[in-house]
Amino acid sequence: MSLRRAKISGVGRYLPDYILTNAELEKFVDTNDEWIRSRTGIAERRLLKDPKKATAFMAAEAAKEALKDAGVEPSEIEAIVVATVTPDYFFPATAALVQKKIGAVNAYGFDLSAACSGFLFALSNGAMMIEAGRAKKVLVIGADKMSSIIDYEDRTTCILFGDAAGAVVLEISDSDEGFIDFIHHTDGDEECSLYQPGGGSLNPATVETVESKLHYIRQDGRVVFKKATEGMADVSLEIMTKNGLTGEDVDWLVPHQANLRIIDATARRMGLSKEKVMINIEKYGNTTAATIPLCLYDWKDKLKDGDNVILAAFGGGLTWGASYLKWSKK
Ligand code: UT7
Repeated sequence: MSLRRAKISGVGRYLPDYILTNAELEKFVDTNDEWIRSRTGIAERRLLKDPKKATAFMAAEAAKEALKDAGVEPSEIEAIVVATVTPDYFFPATAALVQKKIGAVNAYGFDLSAACSGFLFALSNGAMMIEAGRAKKVLVIGADKMSSIIDYEDRTTCILFGDAAGAVVLEISDSDEGFIDFIHHTDGDEECSLYQPGGGSLNPATVETVESKLHYIRQDGRVVFKKATEGMADVSLEIMTKNGLTGEDVDWLVPHQANLRIIDATARRMGLSKEKVMINIEKYGNTTAATIPLCLYDWKDKLKDGDNVILAAFGGGLTWGASYLKWSKK
């Protein structure tokens, strides 16, 4: 019996209207446009300013657009997986809030926490539900309101991140195209090179945790940069080798957008020319779980059935991984 494959049948996104430019950042932290562009590739990022809206709102908007793109009714969705590190609440899950907002009356849902690799981990979970014959239509969402955990006085992190959501509908592929392979890695980061110290069960919120700014992201940029550059390139090569692909065979790299230099190094190691690499970090910055679906959205008119697509990510955890997808929307 041949393996049942999952394919992406619809893509959607939500981007907040407010644009925070490098020039604007220069007004409140000691930074400059030249430094940010040359070190990261970022020119601007979006922020969700409405205090009454958060991750579930963005996730639901992206999901509605993905459903429309796929021609699927909310009631047909059987499972919702939301990758996020900025859930509206610790519980209930963001996926439950999305389920209600979009009217997915027959779906169950849960959140998945794997930081910048979250969307890839969620994708493989969704695809495996379909491959196992347990579901026919699954929503996978990557959504983060990073501005809710950013210290806008810390120039080492506030220049990097933005808010957004991206969503895909997964369905059964009626051909051999669709998701072919996934590789995921985790290496528990006890040194905490990228984390949010406060708010969990170890450091629950107190006046002291707030005053010590423990509820904001902390990152040892150089350590993470080195590991991300190695990890994202290694896992991309690993999945190519495992599936007998050379740089010539790969049509698209869809990389997590944390730093243009990390993306370039990955593409070089894979032997890919620049035109095959999806890059939109300039416009949105690092939106954590949303970067990969935002790329798929921006390139959806260029993706052709049969294209060999490698998706790759590296993030807090530490987590990293790659997926090999033969694009098919039909
Ligand atoms: O998405 C999840 C995974 N995360 C990542 O993959 C991020 C990985 N890390 C990075 O992308 C980079 O490390 C950063 C973009 C965060 C930083 O770039 P860098 O080239 O590693 O800079 P650095 O931390 O080595 O800092 C170089 C200098 C320092 O000054 P000194 O010590 O050389 O005098 C920093 O204080 O740049 C200074 N600096 C800044 N200057 C202007 C740090 N942030 C800024 C800033 N503007 N915003």
